[in-house]
Parts: sequence; structure tokens; C-alpha cells
Amino acid sequence: MAGATGRMGSTLIREAVARGYRVVGAVAAKEDPNIGRTLRESGVCDLDVKIVDPAGIPEAVREADVYVSFTTPEAEVVNLPVVADLGKKIVMGTTGFTNEQMRRIVEAVSGKVPAVFSPNFAIGVNILFRLLRLMKIFPEGYDFSIVEIHHSGKRDAPSGTAKRMGEIISEARGYSTVSYGREGISVRKPGELEILAVRAGGVPGIHEIIVAGPYEMIRIEHTAFSRSVFAQGALYAVSWVYKQEKPGIYTMDDVLGWG
Ligand SMILES: NC(=O)c1ccc[n+]([C@@H]2O[C@H](COP(=O)([O-])OP(=O)(O)OC[C@H]3O[C@@H](n4cnc5c(N)ncnc54)[C@H](OP(=O)(O)O)[C@@H]3O)[C@@H](O)[C@H]2O)c1
Repeated sequence: MAGATGRMGSTLIREAVARGYRVVGAVAAKEDPNIGRTLRESGVCDLDVKIVDPAGIPEAVREADVYVSFTTPEAEVVNLPVVADLGKKIVMGTTGFTNEQMRRIVEAVSGKVPAVFSPNFAIGVNILFRLLRLMKIFPEGYDFSIVEIHHSGKRDAPSGTAKRMGEIISEARGYSTVSYGREGISVRKPGELEILAVRAGGVPGIHEIIVAGPYEMIRIEHTAFSRSVFAQGALYAVSWVYKQEKPGIYTMDDVLGWG
């Protein structure tokens, strides 16, 4: 597990242990005060697995079947090529990549190992992604907006999930630009999608789709009760990718059999 001391990493480790997976290695940032301690000593869980910095990845993955990672885009760009070169399968949930960062990762990983990348491992959100593809049947004159709310510690905005929803809606509805917020005189233009990000308190993740026509409106909301929902989906991806032999980048559609 990489990002082992983080919000997602520590949740995932606890869920994995509770579901009978074996956690054999833990990686954290070089500056993390928990480097050299065990998961038990750092209060993550009841395991004597040592937490190493990224230079220790070869040692941390030695006994691993799958490398699971929730870190930062900068960390993934450096770490994932190393993991792929070691021939380890990957499940990665980090968000906030630039196109160039993602291009470099795909180039380093896709020909070497099977990997599942997803901006959101919650089953409900992945069903929502599919529902959004059906939305192209709305007549002209219906506007689509996305509002997402996350905890105040989240680094990237809008969320990777809101961006993915935006891509699906733009493809279905022919939007060509995105407005990320309004101030002053700012009328909605034709061909413009709206994505708004709110950062507040400890919210694990809320995404709302608003579809409004002149006389009616639909609002669809997904609320994650806790980070366990992402951990659960990531563990489905772990079990799925463990059985894959063909290198490539896969999505939750593949994991859930909807590919
Ligand atoms: N796909 C999904 O379903 C899903 C769900 C929730 C979150 N996420 C995404 O997952 C990522 C992590 O979120 P989070 O809330 O867990 O953030 P977080 O609490 O900040 O955790 C990130 C962890 O990565 C560690 N890290 C930084 N650089 C590293 C490196 N070079 N090698 C190994 N570990 C490194 C950080 O260590 P330090 O604290 O020491 O810097 C931190 O422990 C974000 O991109 C978030 O958007 C995805």
C-alpha cells in the first residue's frame, strides 16, 4: 500500500485486513515522520509491517501481488514506473494529474502490467457515470451542472470524479467549455458546462448533477458516507486485477464487468 499513512491509504489497509487480504508492504512520503515505524507503531492497524520511503519500493513489493496507491500525482509519476518495471500489478486511485503527468504514467505502465486506474472506486459513482451517458437524450435547452463537496484538506479541484463526469456529459451533450465558478456579471454561455467545487469540514465526497430545463429540474446526488466505500471498490479492483494477465490500463467498468 502506497500512501499508507494517508486518509485513503490507512482506511484501505484497515478494510483490507478486515476482509482477509494480506498487507505485506507500506510506502509513505520520504518526509513522513512514520518512516521506519511499523503500521502498528504509527497507529494505522495491528500489523508489524514496516513503513518505508519510495526508495524502499522494491523491498516493500517483494511479496506483493498488487501495489495499491493513493498518493499525489507527483509521487505516482516517480513510483508507478518503478512498480511496473518490477512486474507488479497496480490499482491506483490518485487524482489531480495534468495531461502530461498521466501521459507519462500510461506510457510507463500500459505495456508492462495490468493496472486499474479510477478517480472514484465507489460502485454508486460508477453507476452514475453510466447513467450520465444516457443523458444525451435530453432535448436542447436543458443545462447540465456539477457540484462537488469535499473535506477542506483535499488538494485538487474540481475532484477527479467531477472532471470525469464533466467529460462524459460534454461528450454526450457537445459542451466545449467549462465554467468553474461565477463572479460579477457572468451569464451562462451556450456550449458551457458548469463544475463547482466546495471545500468544507470533513466531507468524504458528495457529487451532485443538476439537469435543468425551462420548466423542470432533475438533481442526482451521490454521497459517500465514509472512505470505506472507496476502499471497498479498490479491493474489488485488487481481486480483479490479480487474475488479469494482459498488460494495459483498465477501469472500474472492466472490474465490474461492464466494459
Ligand atoms: N479513487 C478514489 O476512489 C479516491 C477516493 C478518495 C481519494 N482519492 C484520491 O486519493 C489521493 C489521496 O487522498 P487522501 O485523502 O488519502 O490524501 P492524503 O491523506 O494526503 O494521503 C496521501 C498520502 O500519500 C503520501 N505520499 C506523498 N508523497 C508520497 C510518495 N512520494 N510516496 C508514497 N506516499 C506519498 C502522503 O504522505 P505525507 O502525508 O507524508 O505527505 C500521504 O500519506 C488524492 O489524489 C485523492 O483525490 C481517490
